[in-house]
Amino acid sequence: MPDSTPRGLTRLAFGGDYNPEQWPEDVWHEDVRLMREAGVTMVSVGIFSWALLEPAPGVYDFGWLDRVLGLLHENGIRVDLGTPTVVPPVWFYRAHPEALPVTADGTRYEFGSRGAICHSNPGYRAAAADITTRLAERYADHPALAMWHVHNEYGLPVSACYCDTCAGHFRDWLRTTYGTVEAVNEAWGTAFWGQRYGDLDEINPPRTTPTVGNPAQALDYRRFADATVRENFRAERDVLHRLSPGVPVTTNFMTALSQCDSMDYWAWGREVDIVTNDHYLITDGRRTHVNLAMAADLTRSVAGGAPWLLLEHSTSGVNWQQRNPAKAPGQMARNSLAHVARGSEGAMFFQWRQSRRGAEKFHSAMVPHGGTDTRVWREVVELGAALDVLAPIRGTRTVADVAVLWDWHSWWAQGLDWRPSEDHDARERADTFYETLYDRHLTVDFAHPEADLSAYPLVVVPALYLMTKTAGDNLRSYVEQGGTLVVSYFSGIVDEHDAVHEGAYPGVLRDVLGLTVEEFSPLLPGERVRLNGPDGSELNGDVWTEFVVPRGAETVWTYADGLTAGRPAVTRHALGRGTAWYVSTRLDGEALDAVLGRAAADAGVAPLVELPRDVEVVRRAGEQGSYLFAVNHTAGEAKVPLDATGTELLTGEPVEGRLTVPAGAVRVVRLDG
Ligand code: GLA
Ligand code: ZN
Repeated sequence: MPDSTPRGLTRLAFGGDYNPEQWPEDVWHEDVRLMREAGVTMVSVGIFSWALLEPAPGVYDFGWLDRVLGLLHENGIRVDLGTPTVVPPVWFYRAHPEALPVTADGTRYEFGSRGAICHSNPGYRAAAADITTRLAERYADHPALAMWHVHNEYGLPVSACYCDTCAGHFRDWLRTTYGTVEAVNEAWGTAFWGQRYGDLDEINPPRTTPTVGNPAQALDYRRFADATVRENFRAERDVLHRLSPGVPVTTNFMTALSQCDSMDYWAWGREVDIVTNDHYLITDGRRTHVNLAMAADLTRSVAGGAPWLLLEHSTSGVNWQQRNPAKAPGQMARNSLAHVARGSEGAMFFQWRQSRRGAEKFHSAMVPHGGTDTRVWREVVELGAALDVLAPIRGTRTVADVAVLWDWHSWWAQGLDWRPSEDHDARERADTFYETLYDRHLTVDFAHPEADLSAYPLVVVPALYLMTKTAGDNLRSYVEQGGTLVVSYFSGIVDEHDAVHEGAYPGVLRDVLGLTVEEFSPLLPGERVRLNGPDGSELNGDVWTEFVVPRGAETVWTYADGLTAGRPAVTRHALGRGTAWYVSTRLDGEALDAVLGRAAADAGVAPLVELPRDVEVVRRAGEQGSYLFAVNHTAGEAKVPLDATGTELLTGEPVEGRLTVPAGAVRVVRLDG
């Protein structure tokens, strides 16, 4: 069994992508000196180095990498060693032009960037296996090697290729998945618009068509593309496991839903030895620390609750958004420790030294262009010291209060063309529900709709358009056995082939919710509806309304105007020992809080402590003890009430009764007992 912690790493991971090939060798010596000054414990090396390691076909140059690893080892720095398969050298493409991916409209990409890969291409697969084998043979026993980092951010920038090789590979996938062309016809509903196929060999990828193509075909192509990329990960991983036994293998995910939508990370989480994640703040005007917390919780969830590792984030601004603000003083540490609170075993960055050339020269780094007499460098050194003190938390697990259901397949299906309203956005619903729970200081685990939910008193379903019958049965028995469920509109509508479940909406959720939906009635931009509820409370909804018919559920809020006036808007259904809530319109965070407050009361779920909105409190616990993290995102001092005593690790001070967290700061208390 490969280990699930980086080999030989005895502290939290702290460091970044290290690209010494961009610098003359004398800079390397300064690099390791500065790494020691900052308390760097691990760096990621070689991720983009194929062209340097194999300058011509079959000609290898490992000398420079030997020297880099040797230098790092002499300085006590562990290495996360990359396989460079995200950028094959130009000579490879000149020999295999067909390995460049093709878009749905037939454009073939050119060499000159990164990640231009047709994952079905046999030439690419063979070359990737070869360079991975060479690296593993050379470095499996290297004393600096802590873990293997396969490829880089699978799924970006190309999520699917539509070339002829992929067409053949897709047909093989269909043959394995469905067996016969009849089964494909049935699953895709090809009787519609005369799309019937007589033979599997007639089927192509969903290339550009005059109007909307077959949605089930498009959905299956996303599954196929994800599975194909995973085949390539597995192939490299298996080489590494064979030649480098016991050393954990990872590949860096991007679980922030806005950063990658093409990989089913539930499936990926089962394939890696350590889940690692990259996270960058998206500056779209929303609270970035909430998006960060959500991505961290989702990462931990795909790791099955086990510790994971933040492999990349930024010390300050990035360079790939329209506007790239710098981080505020203290924000980098806050970001880093918020990830740690939610299960990361350290904080790593892209990248160690800011590049002078190339596309990412304006992306912040641990060593900025301005060198060490800079704010960023001073904060890097401080963070290194803080992480060093926090080493005892290694191996503990974040404790969650509620579960939010999430499924990439459902998200893909939700995004297909010709839905009732393009304003309904599954991710937006997930974000808003998450934010509402965050503001109640509840810690969220994400769960697959078919997962065992019995550990959670409250389960929230933000937007799960596609749900299997198994998932529906799962939710029903969860409620019957005493759980509290909250479901948002347009959930449980189609099966795994995007076919509407038989009978009235919401197919697999009718029984558990105790209602049917006769019709959807989306609203026009700017249109709003009022909802009247208990104790005279009034809420507003937009984007979506429905004609809900209660069949056992009680009406809690009623539509006060619009086409659905007088009908149920929010309902509650007592079933078995539990309760199921349904919300049939889009509520903003504040309105949602009114509903979630009632559901939380049904579930008996209360936050850890009463706190201001932007003070985050999360607990990690394990055999080594219990640790309370308090992250203060506000500009004022926060007082966190504690009904325990303990020791604050960053200041060494004893804590009793309450914990004072200065503005913008983080505190970590080791709780006694
Ligand atoms: C990703 C990549 C890195 C770098 C950063 C920049 O995470 O993995 O190589 O491009 O983005 O933010
Ligand atoms: Zn292809």
